[in-house]
Amino acid sequence: MSVSADPVKLMKQEVGKAAANLVKSGSIVGLGTGSTTAYTIQFLGDRLKSGELKDIVGVPTSFQSEVLAKQYGVPLTTLDAIDHIDIAIDGADEVDPHKNLIKGGGAAHTREKVVDYLAKEFIVVVDSGKLVDRLGSSFAVPVEVIPMAITPVINAIKKLGGQPELRMGVKKAGPVITDQGNMVVDVTFENIDDPVTLEKTLNNIPGVLENGIFVNCVSQVLIGEVIDGKPSVRQM
Ligand code: 5RP
Repeated sequence: MSVSADPVKLMKQEVGKAAANLVKSGSIVGLGTGSTTAYTIQFLGDRLKSGELKDIVGVPTSFQSEVLAKQYGVPLTTLDAIDHIDIAIDGADEVDPHKNLIKGGGAAHTREKVVDYLAKEFIVVVDSGKLVDRLGSSFAVPVEVIPMAITPVINAIKKLGGQPELRMGVKKAGPVITDQGNMVVDVTFENIDDPVTLEKTLNNIPGVLENGIFVNCVSQVLIGEVIDGKPSVRQM
């Protein structure tokens, strides 16, 4: 892999690689979605190719991670064929000091939540720009909604005090459609004082499939940094 001079890319590469190095032979691995875990999947493939890592199977959290796993030679399985996940490695859009997360920047938070919550060990990989004092500071909460319920869900979210915005596609006219065929509403809240309650409240709106608040589920956060031009990784 070519090493990038872009500091954010460098942090992502470094932390993605550090997480891939935590995976042991024989493991069932949750494969997260996003640009950071793309490096993890690539490094897992490298370790398999070199023979240093053996007999792992991955559970993808999106079409993206499925495609990357196939590209880099990481064998895949499904939740129907296994009874546990040893380790899941996934990115995040925000991480607070309690290791609570906002995820869903890639509209994959529903499958990510299923896989990440099942894992015995859930490792989060982020660059240092993702750390916040309070969730919602820089990133809206993604909410996956079934298409026929989009209007009542948007109205219900407004009543809760959120500012919803339907996520639109890039290089695709119209809204983003998730891997499940649903839409995503990005919701800005002035303050998220109680992420545990907000996660439940949003999921209680009829028509909401899942939201991107992840609470009390993370085992370890690995943070990629660049100090004096050199990439490094620290634990939260
Ligand atoms: C996708 C996600 C990603 O993990 C999150 O958006 C972080 O992505 P990146 O590693 O590209 O910054 O939740 O739904």
